[in-house]
This record gives sequence, structure tokens and C-alpha cells, in this order.
Amino acid sequence: MTASPLLRSYDDGRLSLPNRIVMAPMTRGRADDVSAVPHPLTREYYAQRAGAGLIVTEGLWADPLGKGGPGIPGLVTDAHVAGWREVTDAVHAAGGRIFAQLWHVGRMTHPVTLPDGELPLAPSPVRIEHQQIFTKDGWLDHVTPRAMTTAEAEATIAAFAAEARNAVRAGFDGVEVHGANGYLVQQFLAENTNRRTDRFGGSLTRRLRFAVEVVEAVVAEVGAERVGLRISPDNPENEIAEEDAQGTYRTLVDTLAPLGLAYLHIIERGAYPALADLRPRWPGTLIANFNGPQPTTREAGEKVLNAGLADLFSYGRLFIANPDLPTRFAADAPLNPIRENLIYGGDAEGYTDYPALTPTPVG
Ligand SMILES: Cc1cc2nc3c(=O)[nH]c(=O)nc-3n(C[C@H](O)[C@H](O)[C@H](O)COP(=O)(O)O)c2cc1C
Repeated sequence: MTASPLLRSYDDGRLSLPNRIVMAPMTRGRADDVSAVPHPLTREYYAQRAGAGLIVTEGLWADPLGKGGPGIPGLVTDAHVAGWREVTDAVHAAGGRIFAQLWHVGRMTHPVTLPDGELPLAPSPVRIEHQQIFTKDGWLDHVTPRAMTTAEAEATIAAFAAEARNAVRAGFDGVEVHGANGYLVQQFLAENTNRRTDRFGGSLTRRLRFAVEVVEAVVAEVGAERVGLRISPDNPENEIAEEDAQGTYRTLVDTLAPLGLAYLHIIERGAYPALADLRPRWPGTLIANFNGPQPTTREAGEKVLNAGLADLFSYGRLFIANPDLPTRFAADAPLNPIRENLIYGGDAEGYTDYPALTPTPVG
């Protein structure tokens, strides 16, 4: 057994967790592509991982136009709620805690993925130029998205709030607003994707407004203690270019700090040292994540916690291959390798068939 900061319990009076290891949100593309109801094995997949201090689900779309690709589940219809209720019941029965990630992809989708072949909606008609998008018809060039009207932006904020309400109906312990990785919320934050001149664009305050109003609307619906926000300052993923990440995220964090959210989840990726810069400004729980070419190591997370840069650390790819990751860390046990070709779509293979440690027979 190793004394690891990851294995210490955490209790801030609201989140009470047996360890500081969070399962990061990860899209697995296994929902029914038409109904967007979770795969029958999804309850087993998450229940197997209930030893995490906290699970954050894969992104779940808040609106049919917020769906990014094949097999991505939603949390909009009664059938979605019923499907996720089975998942949350299974995780709770296994002793875990689970938040739903609330997601709208904005321009990061394609008409073949959207109802009636509609154009993707985004803050501004800025096309992704240098990468393709995965669809049921394979990899396709991006189209130019249509700019949301002010009323559509407001309706989308309401859709996030409605999704949060559905999350509570489905038995989730809370929700995480996906404000990271170049999806809709970050498209409003970033200068290169938000060229609007209405109340959602122009000045810094206006660029922040969509993110702030989404969080406020979700908080009004389910209570701040059940709401987290994920951000990825300066992350260039999905052709985001933030000219002033420090100014943008300091102001965002200062604006949201008084709300008393459950947590802030920071992906540190770009040149801007987001954890060191934002940690002193955030009074609540902070979850850190690194997103590099290789799966983040146990040691990287321990270093962050030991340096006091975060309270909790989230792991993605290690959790795909190691359902019992905290147990393996505690036992200094070897880790299963991930099978990259089985990450997205399909059935049990590469999903629920990664083995847990076999207990050593006694006697
Ligand atoms: C297969 C896969 C799917 C992902 N899907 C999401 C997602 O739905 N929402 C999200 O915020 N991040 C998503 N991410 C990013 C992860 O949450 C995490 O930031 C990333 O994997 C880095 O952590 P790691 O090094 O521990 O894997 C995804 C990552 C992977 C590998």
C-alpha cells in the first residue's frame, strides 16, 4: 500500500468522496443512434467504475442540434431519463457518485448527424478548416455553421437548464456544464469563434455572458451545490484560438466564484498555466485534468495534489482500461493497456470487458 494524496478522502461539506480520483467525462459512442438512449451495457460500465471518488459521465446532448456524432446519448426525452435512471441506480447500488455532463457541440457536428440535415448552430459562421468530423457516413469536411439568433442562444441556455432538471429526475448527484474543448460554450468564450455584435459578443463581458448565463440557469434549476463547470483555458483543440486566455478565464472565474458551485474542473493544456493562475481565485473545490497525447499518469496527478494546485484529479483513458483504478493505485498493481480501436462504438468488447484485479485467494 502506498500513501498517495489521490487515495485520501475528501469532504467539503457538500461533496463527500472516499478518494480524490475522478473519472473524467468520456464519450464512448455506444448509445442507440436514433433514440440516443444509453446502451444496455452502460449501467454495467459505470457501475464497474463506482470506486472512483466521483464519476462524470460522457457528454450528453442538451438539444438535438447539440449532438456531435453517432451514438452520442441525450438527456432530453423521457426515454433518456429512464435509461439514465438505470445507470445512476446501478452506480449508487455499487456505492458510487455520478454527475451528468451537459453538452452542446455548437459547430463541432455535421448536417448528417443532425435532425432533418440541419446546419450546425454556432455563435458565428466560422467553419472548422483543417480537420474533418466523424459521422455515420465516415469522416467528412465541416460545413459553415449558422449563427444562432439571440433568441436561439437564449433557448439553448434554457435547454441546458432543462437538461439539468432531467439529470436530477434521472437520479444524478449533480451536473457538469461542458465549457471545454472547443464546444459551444467555449465557442462563445473564444475571440476567433465569437464575432457577434449582440449581447453575447463584442466585449469580454459579452463573450462571457453565454457561459455565465448557462451556469446561472442550471444553478437556478438544481442548486449550486449540484453544479460543476469544466473549462479548458487556452486549449487549441477544435480550432479554438484564445488571444487572452488569462484575462478571459480570470474574469470568468471571478464572476462565477460567488455562486458557490460544487466544483470547477480545469483541463490544463495550452501555454497558459491555468491551475496555478486560477487556483487562488477559486474558493471552492477544484478538479484538475491534463490532456496530452498519452494517458495522464498517476504520478502527474499526485504532483498536482501535493503542490496544492487542486483538490481532486480526474483521469480519463486510465479509467477506460482499468475499471478499478483506485484499487489498483492502492495496491500498486499494474494497469491494463487500453485497446484504442475499441474506444468508440460497438458492444461489450473494449467497454465492459476490461478485467478488475483478481483477488488473491486466501489460504
Ligand atoms: C475517448 C475519449 C472521449 C472523451 N470525451 C469527452 C467528453 O465527452 N467530454 C469531455 O469534457 N471530455 C472528453 N474527453 C477528454 C477527457 O475527459 C480527458 O480530458 C482526457 O482524456 C485527458 O485525460 P487522460 O489523460 O487521463 O485521458 C474525452 C477523452 C477521451 C479519451
